[in-house]
Amino acid sequence: MKLEAVGHIPLSAPWIDERDEELVMEVVRFEELLAEAIGAPYCAAVSSGTAGLHLCMRLAGVKAGDEVITSPYSFVASANCAIYEGATPVFADIDAKTFNLDPAAVEAAVTPRTRAVVAVDIFGYPCELDELRAICDRHGLTLVEDSCEALGARYKGRPLGSHGHPAVFAFYPNKQITTGEGGAVTTGSAEEHELLISLRNQGRLETSSWLQHGRLGYNYRLDDVSAALGIGQVEKLDRILAGRREVARQYGELLAGLDLATPLADDADHERSWFVYVVELPRGVDRDGVIHRLGDEGIAAAPYLPSVHLQSYMRERYGFAEGLCPVSEDVSARTMAIPFHARLAREDQERVADALRSVLV
Ligand SMILES: Cc1ncc(COP(=O)(O)O)c(C=O)c1O
Repeated sequence: MKLEAVGHIPLSAPWIDERDEELVMEVVRFEELLAEAIGAPYCAAVSSGTAGLHLCMRLAGVKAGDEVITSPYSFVASANCAIYEGATPVFADIDAKTFNLDPAAVEAAVTPRTRAVVAVDIFGYPCELDELRAICDRHGLTLVEDSCEALGARYKGRPLGSHGHPAVFAFYPNKQITTGEGGAVTTGSAEEHELLISLRNQGRLETSSWLQHGRLGYNYRLDDVSAALGIGQVEKLDRILAGRREVARQYGELLAGLDLATPLADDADHERSWFVYVVELPRGVDRDGVIHRLGDEGIAAAPYLPSVHLQSYMRERYGFAEGLCPVSEDVSARTMAIPFHARLAREDQERVADALRSVLV
């Protein structure tokens, strides 16, 4: 019997119908929409912000024995990504006003082993990109931006993610937009983009078949269903960002006059994308007591953020201790997140402000 007559019997076959095919196409559409919203030439969707940061370490060629400078006032992933490649995280202190890396501290932390700088836009406030890029250029380092909390923020008028170097975004449900789990890496470089596409897909090359792998890669693909959700989210990104901005503006009004510092205001170079609302208590105030008393009023609040270098596994692994980054440690001891999201009701914000007023007298 001729093969053409009986047909080919594959080893296995997924059950994919037309709707599923539409969804697959939607991964590509999600990437396109996101790239357009950010103004980035290239955008690769990945399975999480952490996965995106890890891939950026591979882009930078970070390897065992290297050092990667990053911020202690961050979520752990911005330091962990270096450890995944066998490098050592080096913490440079932050600026007391922006809570982002202090460029002078970064410059002072550079050694012959430094390979990259992971700059974080904490709480959606853009880091000092020009100064950090100048330091990286001077020392031959790769700049990676952790913009996981900063989709929609702008530096010198241009959206984060559109400044040429790789920038990583995250879409966990607490972020500005969500895909469930998920993330994306934007870049201005076609070569970097091609490498990202291969690395997230088990190291397959553009030309290779399913079981041919040109390099060590990972399964960091964003799944199709998550991407479909992402499309709906990007379509309302402007509304989401405006809602968050308005809630932040109202907090600014309601908390004026209280004995605490509200988040740093925008200036000509920095436009924040609101992620969380973190206030800074004066020295000497019992933060745990404040959080406890807010809790008694039915209001959630949390210490936010602990310094990464003082996490127990960091202390055990590298011997980091108090005094390494005094500014970050001081800020970490006094900052606190209060309820915040795009649709927080004015009455709820008033309740939060009233409770804080009575607790802080
Ligand atoms: C600053 C920062 N970096 C990285 C991440 C990691 O993102 P994901 O949780 O998607 O892995 C987060 C998420 O919380 C973050 O806030």
